[in-house]
Amino acid sequence: MSLLQVENLSGGYEPTQIFSNVDLTVPEGACVGFFGPNGHGKSTLMKTLSGVIDPWSGSIVFDGERLNAPTERKARRSRNLNYDVLTRRRMDPKRIARAGLIHVPQGSTLFPDMTVAEVLSIAPAAARGTGRVCDPESVFALFPRLKERLKSKARFLSGGERQMLSMACGILAVPKLMILDEPTLGLSPKVRIELSDCVHAIRASGIPIILVEQDVEFLRDLVGTLNVFDHGSISRRLEQSEIPDHETLMAEMFGKRTH
Ligand SMILES: Nc1ncnc2c1ncn2[C@@H]1O[C@H](COP(=O)(O)OP(=O)(O)OP(=O)(O)O)[C@@H](O)[C@H]1O
Ligand SMILES: [Mg+2]
Repeated sequence: MSLLQVENLSGGYEPTQIFSNVDLTVPEGACVGFFGPNGHGKSTLMKTLSGVIDPWSGSIVFDGERLNAPTERKARRSRNLNYDVLTRRRMDPKRIARAGLIHVPQGSTLFPDMTVAEVLSIAPAAARGTGRVCDPESVFALFPRLKERLKSKARFLSGGERQMLSMACGILAVPKLMILDEPTLGLSPKVRIELSDCVHAIRASGIPIILVEQDVEFLRDLVGTLNVFDHGSISRRLEQSEIPDHETLMAEMFGKRTH
């Protein structure tokens, strides 16, 4: 049985549809990649899988459990919110995190006025009562820098440290499947290498991952299948052995550079 089975999924931000008819299977123990142009809906799809926003249609089954209610989409009552407080949501993000689908979003969004220690102390709440536990020392072994910054407020961390803290929270939530959305985005080459090593270490620990990245070589080392995502749908699905180098894939998608 697959860990995650997504069928015919469509969604977006009312009234704009961003992605449509996505089918995706993540087998037990697998690492699946997403690569595609900016603004084509990768993060929106990830937010939909973890219940941050509601899907419009289709089904998401995780670990044998249907995550989205199979009811019809209702018209929103408010035009001003992505999340209409008056319309019942069809996905419950807390339940999804408890089930073990843990999303580390793009851009390491953290509570800026909380200290590293405070942020790390609330992260395990996602797995409370499930019997899944994580030794915080294993997180410090992976991110020793966080141990040195325990008293710092999140707002004073560097970009790389913020990303480390986000990933540490994801690990402390004891994922059965982890979504990592562009974990090395906007970082210097040195910090990128450090963080890619951390993603490799997470993978080596056996946690299944959906990895969204812009670096094909990084993806090729990690994923069993790479989904090329453009214009809101999966346009190609490449097995690991079929993934070309970064330049070739970019040329195939956007044409050859002339300068
Ligand atoms: N909260 C939001 N409300 C309305 N529209 C949004 C919101 N977030 C993103 N969008 C729009 O949805 C589209 C898809 O954005 P998304 O962030 O999913 O793309 P992406 O493929 O992850 O891009 P990138 O590679 O730059 O991260 C874009 O046109 C974006 O402007
Ligand atoms: Mg994105």
